[in-house]
Amino acid sequence: MSADQGVAAEPLLRVDDLRVDYRGVVAVGGVSLRVAEGQCVAVIGANGAGKTSLLRAVGGFVPAGAGSRVELAGVDLTRMPAHRRVRAGLGSVLENRHLFPHMTVRDNLELGAAAAPGRSGAGLRGALSLLPELEGLLDRRAATLSGGQQQFVAIGRALATEPRLLLLDEPTNGLAPRLVERVIEIVRHLRAAGTATLLVEQRLEVAVAITAEVHVLAHGRVVHSTDGDTADLARIAHSAYLS
Ligand SMILES: Nc1ncnc2c1ncn2[C@@H]1O[C@H](COP(=O)(O)OP(=O)(O)OP(=O)(O)O)[C@@H](O)[C@H]1O
Ligand SMILES: [Mg+2]
Repeated sequence: MSADQGVAAEPLLRVDDLRVDYRGVVAVGGVSLRVAEGQCVAVIGANGAGKTSLLRAVGGFVPAGAGSRVELAGVDLTRMPAHRRVRAGLGSVLENRHLFPHMTVRDNLELGAAAAPGRSGAGLRGALSLLPELEGLLDRRAATLSGGQQQFVAIGRALATEPRLLLLDEPTNGLAPRLVERVIEIVRHLRAAGTATLLVEQRLEVAVAITAEVHVLAHGRVVHSTDGDTADLARIAHSAYLS
């Protein structure tokens, strides 16, 4: 028997007892979850459940509360600033996309690649190979693009950092059905290529089209986890949206 047989692989992302509060308003009240290398884990929940706050705290855009711990590949990120987390391998597509509207698509993507120097250097090319729809837009200013196109630029910029794990906050929000399908396809491709994702979604059907690992967040806490079995989806939907 080889040394590693029977031993579960260390998860890529470990989140333990994560707490976020905004001046006393508890948005995330102690969430623990794991994402393995190349795995996609989805977090679903109603408006205000704490999904964005959870992703922001993992990405380092809001501070995590006392006792929280965020670890990527064994490295403690909990108090690390966001830009260093990008270098450690965390890419983010946040709500509102945060593109630079007066810069071209190419420059927005280059910023992603520049945010994580010292990786393979193939970030921009890699992003474009996964998102060929951006090729024809490279010289356009971001502000002139449709919402859907901007969303793909935001995904491309995050991919240009060559992340080991991508944080996606409602990437299908406001997109036409054809583009929702495209986002699903992209996340599936990422998984096949070994990039893990932590996906926040309000649409249950999008989450389950991508992964069977779904956590349901309500009032800042995980109230249900599928653990790979989505047979009880009706109950999940109920607890996510009607609690
Ligand atoms: N900057 C902030 N200041 C104060 N309270 C906030 C702030 N951001 C979020 N909240 C509160 O924290 C809670 C969780 O919000 P959050 O945005 O994380 O939820 P969400 O699940 O992403 O919601 P949505 O589906 O609307 O995106 C809500 O009660 C919200 O009002
Ligand atoms: Mg949100």
